[in-house]
Amino acid sequence: MHPDDTPAPAAQSPDCALALTRRDVLVASAAGVAASGASAADRPAPPGPRPNPDTMPLNRLSLTVNGQPHTVELDARTTLLDLLREHLHLTGSKKGCDHGQCGACTVIADGRRINACLSLALLHEGGSVTTIEGLGTPQKLHPMQAAFVKHDGYQCGYCTPGQICSAVAVVDEVRAGIPSHVSADLNARPLLSVAELRERMSGNICRCGAYSNIVDAITEVAGGTT
Ligand code: FES
Ligand code: FES
Repeated sequence: MHPDDTPAPAAQSPDCALALTRRDVLVASAAGVAASGASAADRPAPPGPRPNPDTMPLNRLSLTVNGQPHTVELDARTTLLDLLREHLHLTGSKKGCDHGQCGACTVIADGRRINACLSLALLHEGGSVTTIEGLGTPQKLHPMQAAFVKHDGYQCGYCTPGQICSAVAVVDEVRAGIPSHVSADLNARPLLSVAELRERMSGNICRCGAYSNIVDAITEVAGGTT
């Protein structure tokens, strides 16, 4: 006999005239659940067809990069880093982690340093972006680029474009009196100390460990530590 055909305990009661099998009980229970469930009208509609990511509508974006106006058509999901590297072929800004954790993609957007991998390109409509290519040229280096060369502030160089863009912005931040996490007095002009520089540059990771030389380079451009 199939196990489900064994008499249910209730059917074995001497008071029960009807001998139900376990299978009968299970069938009756399932039917009851189905009858008491939500009607079809109450159930959420099944999700519609997913949009095809290859045929998403494109969006027009106009911005200035390194002083040059650009207008491009973009998928709305494109990051600023991918716009720079894949659409404008400015490959100086590096993709290290693509998660906002290494700083290799740092660029200056409207005067502020940002991680380009974390910023959607469309947010920069009408904006102005400066990458490492826009700071100086091989013939006429930006003072920060020249200081990195002088102080040997790199080894493999992968982090260097982001380090330099960040360092340029850091010097501007300190000169503007913007305090950092290690500033002792939030109302006083921050000191240009090694601790300040290390704190402010902490979002730019150098896997080669060129940190001390990087600090030397920034210090020289900033006019010496206090
Ligand atoms: Fe943007 Fe690492 S690539 S922070
Ligand atoms: Fe190699 Fe910084 S110089 S990661």
